[in-house]
Amino acid sequence: MGCVILGTGACLPERVLTNHDLEKMVDTSDEWIRARTGIETRHISGPGDYTYVIAAKAGQKALDMAGLGAADIDGIIVATVSSHMLMPSCACFVQAELGADKAFAYDLNAACSGFVYALHMAEKYIAADVNAKMLVIGAETLSSRVDWRDRNTCILFGDGAGAVVLGASTNPDRGVICSRLYSDGRLWQLLHMHTAESLNPDLKVDGWPGCHLVMEGKEVFKHAVNAMEDAVRELFDTADVNSDDLALLIPHQANVRILNKLIDRLDIPREKIVINAPRYGNTSAASIPIALDEANRGGRLASGDLVALCAFGGGFTWGASLLKW
Ligand code: ACO
Repeated sequence: MGCVILGTGACLPERVLTNHDLEKMVDTSDEWIRARTGIETRHISGPGDYTYVIAAKAGQKALDMAGLGAADIDGIIVATVSSHMLMPSCACFVQAELGADKAFAYDLNAACSGFVYALHMAEKYIAADVNAKMLVIGAETLSSRVDWRDRNTCILFGDGAGAVVLGASTNPDRGVICSRLYSDGRLWQLLHMHTAESLNPDLKVDGWPGCHLVMEGKEVFKHAVNAMEDAVRELFDTADVNSDDLALLIPHQANVRILNKLIDRLDIPREKIVINAPRYGNTSAASIPIALDEANRGGRLASGDLVALCAFGGGFTWGASLLKW
């Protein structure tokens, strides 16, 4: 039994924010942003484009491709750190929006690694219940959680959602081959985002900065490249394959400089990596399923292709998955 992707979908909010738009908001330039990150544009939510709204749209597209209805889904996992509410979960809003009447639903917080984490959880669930169909979504509206006065961070992120429908396949040679997940909470300060300020005076965080994203860019860069390289190498060792066997690497789209460094380290030719960060920026947990959907709909994936996913994010969390398409 293999756990296979039956359908993919994505949703990007309509509004596009260019580097030139950002020049009017903070002390930056199109040249600086392109040179340091490769990012040119990002999509930003407009009125009503809450995380669950774009997540449900991506999910519906994945269901349509899979030829399934929402009522066929047994569980919904939404990887996100930017739901418009802490409770109920974004996944519960998606469940209601889609009408997935028999599905359990929960959010998973592993920041930019969230989709790889959620895929692993869903795959294990299906291994335990081969009749189950799972909807796994990565969705973010980080535009609601970045400090738009901070040029170090606000230029990097965009909003979007991507989704996959997962189910069992009778062909054991297809589907998820192996996954590896990691974390190191000791390094949390390098990339973090507080919640609302505590209403219990005893639980107030000293120097609470507000509930926006905070990042030490240079440190994150180094850790991200090392961790994603190690995670992919570990998968290759586990599955006894190498970069020549790989058809496509679909990494978290942190930014183009990080991805170029990663493929240099792994000795993977540029045509074997999906890079859409120039158009979408960093959409955190949404970036891999958006890129996967583009690769899928763009005809870059053929049956039997070996595909690797890898991600790194706040926590720190990181991980990778290897699948046979
Ligand atoms: N426009 C113009 N100048 C800027 C901007 C900006 N938007 N942002 C920072 N600068 C300035 C800095 O203030 C600094 O000026 P100084 O030398 O006078 O102090 C100078 O540019 C260099 O800043 P650095 O932070 O050293 O620039 P660096 O080359 O490290 O690039 C970047 C910054 C792009 C953030 C890089 O560190 C990076 O890619 N880090 C990874 C961050 C990331 O992708 N995080 C996403 C979340 S985690 C994840 O998804 C994996």
